[in-house]
Amino acid sequence: MDKLTVRDADVAGKRVLVRVDFNVPIEDGKVKDDSRIRASIPTIRYLLEHNASVILMSHLGRPNGKVVESARLRPVAERLSGLLRWSVPVTGDALGLGTTDAIGRLKPGQLLLLENLRFHAAEEANDPEFAKTLASYGQVYVNDAFGTAHRAHASTVGVPALLPAYAGLLMEREIRNLSALLESPARPFAAVVGGAKVSTKIAVLEHLVSKVDTVLVGGGMANTFLVARGLTVGKSLLEKDRVEDARRVLDAAEQQGIAFILPSDVVVAKEVTRGAEHKIVPVHKIPNSWSVVDIGPQTRATFAEALEEARTVFWNGPLGVFEVPTFGDGTRAMARDLARRAEAGTTVVVGGGDSVAALEEAKLTSRMTHISTGGGASLEFLEGRELPGIAVLQDRPSPEPSAPRRSPPRSSKEREPVVR
Ligand code: 3PG
Repeated sequence: MDKLTVRDADVAGKRVLVRVDFNVPIEDGKVKDDSRIRASIPTIRYLLEHNASVILMSHLGRPNGKVVESARLRPVAERLSGLLRWSVPVTGDALGLGTTDAIGRLKPGQLLLLENLRFHAAEEANDPEFAKTLASYGQVYVNDAFGTAHRAHASTVGVPALLPAYAGLLMEREIRNLSALLESPARPFAAVVGGAKVSTKIAVLEHLVSKVDTVLVGGGMANTFLVARGLTVGKSLLEKDRVEDARRVLDAAEQQGIAFILPSDVVVAKEVTRGAEHKIVPVHKIPNSWSVVDIGPQTRATFAEALEEARTVFWNGPLGVFEVPTFGDGTRAMARDLARRAEAGTTVVVGGGDSVAALEEAKLTSRMTHISTGGGASLEFLEGRELPGIAVLQDRPSPEPSAPRRSPPRSSKEREPVVR
């Protein structure tokens, strides 16, 4: 998957439409986690430094085609202005005369942000007229919104079909790091997969069992695997309708001859709340009226040992109910362990969501090889699916087959005698 990037585009003096993923958590009118905004800065700076006028477009939340005040992009623009040290205006709407005027006044080296695209139902419907209007704002399109590349919306597939379309620098980095996991990982390659629901991870696990040497499973989703192995899990989160799927993944892992490691001991609690009574039990002794909330110390040690030789690790999803601090030991231990391994040269790639929150809390993000800005997008990528927002970008032409090489003329001494 070799896409042309913003470095291949002629952007000087042009208006460049950039799809970014500024879908970030907002609390009390302030951006709570700005990692996605920070991740888009290299592309924005590149374009401004190369004399482009930059029109940023993003969604925020799921306002379902209506104007929702709490989903306005003003807090994002404020944060972006702080990071760029340059005031970034937001239009009142993605459409309308005011917006066209503001774009018309943009000079090379200036930027603006369109208001939340999802205030228009036409965005998610990939409405051709909406896409045409957005495309009319620019001459070049850049997609840096890896986190939204699994959505076939107007701003991710409609607009790039109408303009020369390039990958941004973040998009390029995401594709490079995630493709390397699937195509050329240094071995042994281990996947650590957690999170509450197995239903969201079955497809990625099915794909990964044919790629990795070891899988470690924790979090709520491990319960469904424990049941598939014939155990009971008390009151724990369980997806009964996924036990068969879990069994299929276990069989596939066995057929591939890979180590598929489930918890051997767990922390169980009477209630899944802060301060609830809790204890450590082996997995075959989970009491009927208790819930699994974390992996136990023996499992932590087994997981660390299983990763000892790994030269590549992919991690997605917490190993316990991490948002309750008492039940976050397993997740925090994994975060520390992976940071240590990354520093020692192991390639560690972390895919979106709560595992990233655990790293951030422990201030360990900078130690990882790559942290994906995509939750759903990184999972779909690792399921081996083609993401529509990437597929639509221009491919790098394959190099011309080189002309047959002529051997250099031989010296007169070497030449064959001419026979007359
Ligand atoms: C995400 O946060 O995963 C992306 O921004 C996509 O958002 P969506 O799931 O609302 O389409």
